[in-house]
Amino acid sequence: MFGPRIAGEGGVELRPPTLEDYRQNPRWMLLPEVTRFWGPRTISETDADAEERMRKEGARDTSIVWTIAYAGESAGFTGVFDIDWVRRDGETGIFIGRHDLYGRGIASEAVRLRMAYVWKELGLRRTHNWIALPNRGSWRANQKAGYAQVGTYPRSFFRSGEWVDEWLGEAFPHTYPADRLPDAWRR
Ligand SMILES: CC(C)(COP(=O)(O)OP(=O)(O)OC[C@H]1O[C@@H](n2cnc3c(N)ncnc32)[C@H](O)[C@@H]1OP(=O)(O)O)[C@@H](O)C(=O)NCCC(=O)NCCS
Repeated sequence: MFGPRIAGEGGVELRPPTLEDYRQNPRWMLLPEVTRFWGPRTISETDADAEERMRKEGARDTSIVWTIAYAGESAGFTGVFDIDWVRRDGETGIFIGRHDLYGRGIASEAVRLRMAYVWKELGLRRTHNWIALPNRGSWRANQKAGYAQVGTYPRSFFRSGEWVDEWLGEAFPHTYPADRLPDAWRR
């Protein structure tokens, strides 16, 4: 499924992805600045494949996907994936393809909006994630919205000649900073 539009602060909003977004994201995923903390660096996807992926993800009832927009333009995506509706648990992820925009608080705002929706609308009990330990920007953005590190996965993947550990995190409704709840849920 695609998530609804959620207006945030600082020019950030979450909105349902467009076909153009689906075509753009894999192109960003080929950039070294963007994939620095990932294992794989190769993607083969035609525009037709992107369209098919959009159709499948839009129909999937175990994930919620948003485009992250900044100043009205697509900058990446975030979502909750592999939702187990019985355990009410899911994996969260975030990707900003516009590396010229890093460090402006976009991920922090996107995660704040996403997690408000997860707790207030989806009714999940827990979410979890895993993030390359050196990827401070990612785990810190999640931490500010209630994630805490619960463990480390040593030598999780091999990248640029070295093994990289991963930060394992989890979040719960009660760990969300109540005073940072977006306007949409305050009214
Ligand atoms: C990682 C990523 C999500 C961060 O997005 P961002 O918009 O630059 O993050 P923010 O500006 O909201 O910063 C979040 C926090 O991390 C810090 N931070 C950001 N980039 C950092 C960096 N390169 N090194 C150290 N700290 C960093 C910020 O200072 C901020 O902390 P603070 O509020 O305590 O000051 C973004 O760079 C990205 O999508 N990268 C490519 C894909 C990726 O790695 N996704 C995550 C996979 S798990």
